[in-house]
Formats: sequence, structure tokens, C-alpha cells
Amino acid sequence: MLRDPWGPIRYVLAATVLANTACATGTGTVVTFPASWRFNALEAPVTAHRGMVVSTDELATRVGVNVLRAGGNAVDAAIAVHFSLAVVNPEAGNIGGGGFMVASLADGTTAALDFREKAPAAATHDMYLDAENQVTDQSVVGHLSSGVPGSVSGMWVAHQRYGSLKWQDLLEPALELARGFEVRARFIGSLTPSMVRSLSRFPASAAQFLPRNGQPPQIGDTLRQPDLRATLQRIQERGADGFYEGETADLIVAEMERGNGIITLQDLANYEAVWRKPVSFSYRGHTVISMPPSSSGGATMAEMANILELYDLGSLPWHGHERVHLYAEAWRRAYADRNHYLADPDFVDIPLERMTSPTYAQERAASISLNAATPSLDVGPGMEAPQDRINTTHFSVVDELGNAVAVTTTLNSSYGSKVTVNGAGFVLNNEMDDFSAKPGTPNQFGLVQGENNAIAPGKRMLSAMTPTIVLDPEGSLRMVTGTPGGGTIITTVFQTISNVLDYQMNVVEAVSAPRVHHQHLPDQIFYESGGLDAETVRSLEVLGHRVFERPGISGDVQMILIEDGLLSAWSDPRRGGRAAGH
Ligand code: DON
Repeated sequence: MLRDPWGPIRYVLAATVLANTACATGTGTVVTFPASWRFNALEAPVTAHRGMVVSTDELATRVGVNVLRAGGNAVDAAIAVHFSLAVVNPEAGNIGGGGFMVASLADGTTAALDFREKAPAAATHDMYLDAENQVTDQSVVGHLSSGVPGSVSGMWVAHQRYGSLKWQDLLEPALELARGFEVRARFIGSLTPSMVRSLSRFPASAAQFLPRNGQPPQIGDTLRQPDLRATLQRIQERGADGFYEGETADLIVAEMERGNGIITLQDLANYEAVWRKPVSFSYRGHTVISMPPSSSGGATMAEMANILELYDLGSLPWHGHERVHLYAEAWRRAYADRNHYLADPDFVDIPLERMTSPTYAQERAASISLNAATPSLDVGPGMEAPQDRINTTHFSVVDELGNAVAVTTTLNSSYGSKVTVNGAGFVLNNEMDDFSAKPGTPNQFGLVQGENNAIAPGKRMLSAMTPTIVLDPEGSLRMVTGTPGGGTIITTVFQTISNVLDYQMNVVEAVSAPRVHHQHLPDQIFYESGGLDAETVRSLEVLGHRVFERPGISGDVQMILIEDGLLSAWSDPRRGGRAAGH
């Protein structure tokens, strides 16, 4: 027999509580994780009063804290962390990729910086289709898979507006790390046997990352990256021009010619990061500030949050089937809209206001049944399951003044296109796969996207990256969060926020808690191994859901929580980064 905990939900709906008017909902439900769950949520978070950095790598985190100690602000620290991650986490940290920065400043202003890659001018709608109209693997591996990189422009543009320390000084720690750093388990873990085979196809990649006769370094080895160091030095001396012009640009174009890629000097010279208006919405009385298109993260999260705010989630048992059901129903609707409507706003008109409005959420919620799953085919088309050979990196920073920065940046797959620019020492992204190579066909994350996100010269491919900042009802900083995970990014970020606002978890619990995912298509709820108990799975199946266990949902949340002036932070135990305070 299923328990019937729907009483409070029926009450809330009957009382037609409107989105944005609900208040914190915790009704004292005790949150317990399934006995089979593998992460210990009892550890004490890292705490500090004067500043915090949490990133995927201990060395990069330390660089950020040193910048804060030297009087730098959160943006300064973020720039230094970004370039350091390009050295010590080269599978995802990058100068050959792109990403997004969301900032909330102590003076009350907010900002969103789009440094997403762009399609080269020679890109075409069907460039990845073969004679049989099938999508080839050229959007995923090799020179043709790369978009024009945006990261260096992003850091430069952020520094021009907000930097307080010298650009040259912020690059220095990365230069030092490129001279040589001690290899640790995380880096070795990125060099799986299949990755070694993929990188071996490209001599410059093999030379850089497989220094032991074509095999990975071992723990304790020093990894020296002289070509990368020289590139960083050009960026240090000339700013963005040290990447988009001159020797670095020439080396990128020479690499393109070597592998039939299409990025030109003109593409590089034309690239510029752009400031956009953040997506901002209310959830449980808090203000959530997140990334607008060309990322789908903020808008999709706004739609799911607006739908879920209509329900008193906090009164439902943690990870019971009732809550997971509501998550899945809200998420499938939000992702259906994401996949259909969202794209680069410089190319396509998108109904952003409507998608993020509470009124629209009420319309969307009207078709949700508490007693049965809505088949995704009644909301949109079908596809295959997502895969897991991917990587991105997120970091969060708060400084002494209360400035906060959330950055998510990526090469897309782990080691991106697998192509290292010969002589320049960095890996190029394979972000072109985030376009709809063939509208209606799944990409590597299983996302089925539409014509709006088709390839066009100079266009940015749609992203799911969701760097996010949450303010409390008084407008004070409450959370800084974000994660990698391809299509799962948006639901992962939402869950970290919901864990705190609906279930009053602390930062360790919110990050370590088991996660679930639904992205409209495939019409499946995924859960992490051990993350749901058997009874919950059975109950969801009774409601009509197809429920699948996955070894992991490939998140790597780096989160800072602020309460009464105390900063507490946690790095996701799923992969193991590091938080450190000032
Ligand atoms: O922009 C996006 O949505 C993807 N390129 C992100 C890829 C990713 O998160 C892979 N990491 N696990």
C-alpha cells in the first residue's frame, strides 16, 4: 500500500497559493538519506568569515584564497582560479573553452557574463551530417568539433569592469603552476584507458598529458607544461590580444589546418564576451540570480522552481516518491520548453519572459496529476539515454565585502575535442556538439533540441550551465552554487537550492545528498546508485514513471552557504575538490 502524504499538497493547491507568495515551507520533516547512500553528510563544513573559495582543485582554491588575502575582490580571485584550473584540471579547466559568470556585488548590482564559444564563420547547418543524413562523430572529436573559444575574453572583460588587482598578478600563479605541479589522484582519474586512447590520436595531446612513453603520469610526478606556460605569458602580457591575435592565434589556425578545422584568424579576432541581464526569479521568498541564454540554465530553473513553488515540498518526506514525482513532472515540462525554445538570443527570438513567469508556471502545472506520471510524449518527442564521458568545472567565490561570483566553464567533453594546439599547450573544446547537429536528434547528453539551436555562423550553442547566486528575503547573500553535468546541471543546481530552502539542509548535506534527474526525454527518472530506496522506486513505478539507477549523476557542485555572516562551503564528494576560507 502506498502511503498518502498528499494531504498538505492538496491543501496548498486548494488554497491556490500563488507562486512567489509562498514562504519557507519546512514543517519539521526529518531529512534522512537512504541507508545505502555512500556519502557521509555529518562532516563539518569549511567555515570562514572573510572570504571563501570552493573549486574542483585544491591548488586552484589556494590560489583564489591568496588573491583574497592580498586584498583582491571576488572577481580577481575568480580570474586567478580560472587560469589556475586551466593548468591543474586541464580536462575541464581551460583557455580553449568557454563558460558563464554570474556575479552579485556588495553594492546590490548583479551581472551575467556570457563567454560561451561561437560557431566559426564557415560553420553550416548540416556540417555534421553524412551522405545518409546521419550525425557523424565530428561534432564530438577532432578539430571540426571546436567552437571559437571564449574563456580568455571572458576573464579579460570581467577584469576590465570589476578587477581591482593587476591582470599580470592574477595570471602569475597559473604561470607558476604551468612550470610544474605535483600530479594528484583527480588528474590521474581523468586519464582513463579510453581517454588515453583518444588523446593518443593527437600527438600534441599525447606529448602534453601522457609523458610516460604515451602513458599518464603517476601520482607524485611533476607535470610540466612549457607550451601552456608560454601561452599564458602572452595572455599575461597582452591581455585578450595575447590569445586572439599574434602567436597564439597563429598556432590555433595552424592546428586547424593540420586537422581540417575551420576556425580562422578572423573568427578569433571577432570573438568578444558579452554582458547580459541575469535571469532573476523568486523561490520561497528568496531571489535566485542565474544565467540567461545563451545558457538555458537560469530560464529552465526558473520554470521548474515556479512550478514547484506551487507545492509545499517541505511537508513531503525527503526523497519519498511524492517529492520525486513532483520534481520529475516539473522538470519534464521545463526541459520540453528548454529544448524547443531556447537558443542564442542574438540569433533567435525566445519567449524568455513568459518561460520565467509565475503565471506561465501555473498554466504548466495545471496538467500535473498527483496520481500519475504524464508521458513525455504528451509533452514532446523521444530519444536515447545520456552518456557520461563529459567534463566541466564550476567554482564559487565570496569576498570580505560580500561580492559573490559563480563561474561554470567547460570544454564540453573531458579534454574537449582531444586536440591540443601544437606549440600552445592547451586543449580545444568540442562545444559544437551542444548545437542541434540534426534538430530532433539527441546530442551526447541525450538532449533532443530543436531548430532554434541549429548551427549558424557566429552563433553560440545552447548551454545548460547554471552558475547561480541566491539572496535571502532581505537581499543578503545566501548561496553561491553551480556544477558540471551536461543536461543534468539544471536539476542538480535546483536540488542544491531546494535542499536548503525546502529542507533546511546545511551545505554538506545539500551537496552530498543523493540526486535525481529527468530531462523530458528520455522519459525516465534517473537516480544515483543507492540514492533512492526500493520502496520509493516501486511507488514511482506505480505512478507510471520509468525509473533507472545510474552509477552517478555527473555533478560536481561547489557551493557556499551564508548564514548570519558565516560562510560555510563544501566541495562535492562525488569527485573531490576543495573549499578554503580566508
Ligand atoms: O554547456 C553545456 O551545457 C555542456 N557543454 C556542459 C558539459 C558538461 O557539463 C560536462 N560535464 N560533466
